Amino acid sequence: MTVNLFVILCSLVLWVDNGVHSLQKPVRKFPEGFKFGAATAAYQVEGAWNEDGKGPSIWDDLTHTHPSPISDGSTGDVAADTYHLWKSDVELMKQLGLDFYRFSISWSRILPTGFADQINQKGIDYYDNLITELLKNKIEPMVTLYHWDLPSSLQKLGGLANPLIVEWFEQYARVVFDKFGDKVKYWITINEPKQICYEGYGSTAKAPQLNMTGIAEYICAKNVLLSHAKVYHLYDENYRYKQNGQIGISVSCTWYEPASDTIEDHQAAEDARQFDWGQYIHPIFSKTGDFPLSLKNNVRLRSKEQGFLRSRLPVLSSEEIVYIRGSSDFLGINSYTTKLTYRDASLEGMYPVPSYMDDMSAVMVKDASWPQAQSSWLQSVPWGFYKILTQVRYLYDNPAVWITENGWSTSGGLIDNDRVKYYRTYLSALLDAVEEGSNIKGYTAWSLFDNFEWMSGYADKFGIFEVDFKDPKRKRTPRKSAHVYKEIIRSRSLDMNYEVDDKTVLAPTQVVEKDYVEGY
Ligand code: NOJ
Repeated sequence: MTVNLFVILCSLVLWVDNGVHSLQKPVRKFPEGFKFGAATAAYQVEGAWNEDGKGPSIWDDLTHTHPSPISDGSTGDVAADTYHLWKSDVELMKQLGLDFYRFSISWSRILPTGFADQINQKGIDYYDNLITELLKNKIEPMVTLYHWDLPSSLQKLGGLANPLIVEWFEQYARVVFDKFGDKVKYWITINEPKQICYEGYGSTAKAPQLNMTGIAEYICAKNVLLSHAKVYHLYDENYRYKQNGQIGISVSCTWYEPASDTIEDHQAAEDARQFDWGQYIHPIFSKTGDFPLSLKNNVRLRSKEQGFLRSRLPVLSSEEIVYIRGSSDFLGINSYTTKLTYRDASLEGMYPVPSYMDDMSAVMVKDASWPQAQSSWLQSVPWGFYKILTQVRYLYDNPAVWITENGWSTSGGLIDNDRVKYYRTYLSALLDAVEEGSNIKGYTAWSLFDNFEWMSGYADKFGIFEVDFKDPKRKRTPRKSAHVYKEIIRSRSLDMNYEVDDKTVLAPTQVVEKDYVEGY
């Protein structure tokens, strides 16, 4: 073979895309046993906010505040109405070919007071029916215990700033394991602790909008870690032997890339990573346990400068360090995007003092050349995803990882080519990491449905299925991305050249009338 012919043949099988580092084949196989899923969360999709004995949660309270803090004034009162449409939804998941479905349980739907004194049988029945139907269709349930909708009663008592949350969470988990543990084999204790603590307690970006900057987010962080560990040990000691499942935590990981090659910017990016996800992953997955050193040092120094007698970051005692370390069978990673990070020594007026952002003393900016989603915080940077997976492999001794969320928002429409490209390039980056040894067990698309995107209401659409929120029946229609994802699952491979005709997407053929689902 001449050199030229060899080069031409090689170029036919190479695929270079969007900064992902390796030269890739157009069709790449996923490893044997790799699982594909899709996710939702209770408040974002269920609706039925006050039906059948459900108690209120902090998101019911926030969205019912006047004037509304939600950008389009909406609520999750009805949302995608999965409380009523669960059966046809499972049919749709089956058509998609999902191996598993990740959803969360609404604490106040099964325990309206937040405590186990009253168990709401209708709430139990709802989840039991859903789980049974999933299993009947060979779809594994992956259940999150806490995805941000704390019972209002517990918030009145201080919520995650009260150390007793550890006991309350354990009591709730006991009820859940007793009722569903024989059928559920994958548990996630808590979804995205940073968003709960920093956004909910250290700012106003999420319920309960406590905004006790620089104080409450760290108290919350310690309580979240202990709550997680408590429920891990509960499962490990009392349920695992008879229920045989696995239990982990889902942490949101953004990649922070130094904005320049200076040592300061490299340091700022590393600090950002340690504050953002090291804060939660290091105590559980590192060999030494405890909060990361850079987090401890930064908060201690700033606290001292500010006249505090002790660091605003609570200490983890040596018993607590041991109790938390190793308390996860797998690491759930929710990952979406990358930010450029630089150090600005003055930070003059940029952040409140004291605050988490001020303690980190890093500034994040966007790179205008990266593709932008509907959500202002979300840009497509697949190589950042690769870097996260690689760093997790190195820093934490290659733990078992499930990608428990990854996805893209648009303003709507069925032909979502940018979402298709996002999924393909991120999955390709994932395969790069897998081929280099990362122990990744499965991947979860966020989201199965358009849903209530927290402070953005229904404006940011993450669904691979469109939901018509004007339709009382909340009709679901598969987007192009659903067709592509279906093929990825069917073939267990990523084919960059697989085409779906727009006409097929726009004219779904078979209508499953009784279920209000358009088949595909
Ligand atoms: C992470 C959260 O877990 C989920 O609730 C949210 O909708 C997505 N990210 C997109 O912002």
